[in-house]
Amino acid sequence: MKSDNKIIIAIDGFSSTGKSTIAKALAQEIGYRYVDTGAMYRAVTLYAMNHGLAGDKGNLDAKGLVAAMPEIHIGFRIMPDGTQHTLLNNEDVEERIRRMDVSSKVSYVAAIPEIRRALVKMQQGYGTEKGIVMDGRDIGTTVFPDAELKIFMTASAETRAQRRLKELIEKGHATSFEEVLANVAHRDHIDQTREESPLRRAEDAIDLDNSYMTRDEQNAWLLARYREAVKRVSTSN
Ligand code: DC
Repeated sequence: MKSDNKIIIAIDGFSSTGKSTIAKALAQEIGYRYVDTGAMYRAVTLYAMNHGLAGDKGNLDAKGLVAAMPEIHIGFRIMPDGTQHTLLNNEDVEERIRRMDVSSKVSYVAAIPEIRRALVKMQQGYGTEKGIVMDGRDIGTTVFPDAELKIFMTASAETRAQRRLKELIEKGHATSFEEVLANVAHRDHIDQTREESPLRRAEDAIDLDNSYMTRDEQNAWLLARYREAVKRVSTSN
């Protein structure tokens, strides 16, 4: 049975806007499940790389990858410290899927309609009981068009590249600002122009430009939007 006041929270936006950071913080604060859909596309990309289906020169065997989908099992594991790790066929790939080589190929994989349909179906399955915070690109438009709260996050490409660079350096992955900025801009372009459910702001989404906001300010802002949404839902019931 669905808990009456539980809602679905969809957080979409450009890459490296910090969607997962605020989505995770909110989920933890309100006791909801968090699902990182970008990690699912990244895990499929890693599978393609490991099985010779995605080469270094942008060549991707889309047919082969679609045919392999029944062999690709994606899951999540909650770690003792409360963080969530992505599993690919039961192997913990959390760290691996964040590297630049995966980042530079994932948009091509995420543009394959059959792959999107399979992952969207899984994502919709996670939301049947509501009480979920999901982040991605098409959550408010395609995965949960009826989500009770939709947020669309933006920040300038330079701000996002700076954040991503800091993250990568902290993890010990050598790269430059220029390389990261080029990757961010390239992914924006592919994400916005692909045929199948492109990155698009849902009409009823609330905008959050966090270029000049601290994490605490963003968390407080999102919590306030959540409380308003729950109030709206409970008064309309
Ligand atoms: O959020 P992220 O950077 O981990 O996402 C990785 C890629 O997956 C990104 O290029 C966009 C794509 N993606 C998507 O197309 N749809 C989603 N719901 C989530 C991510």
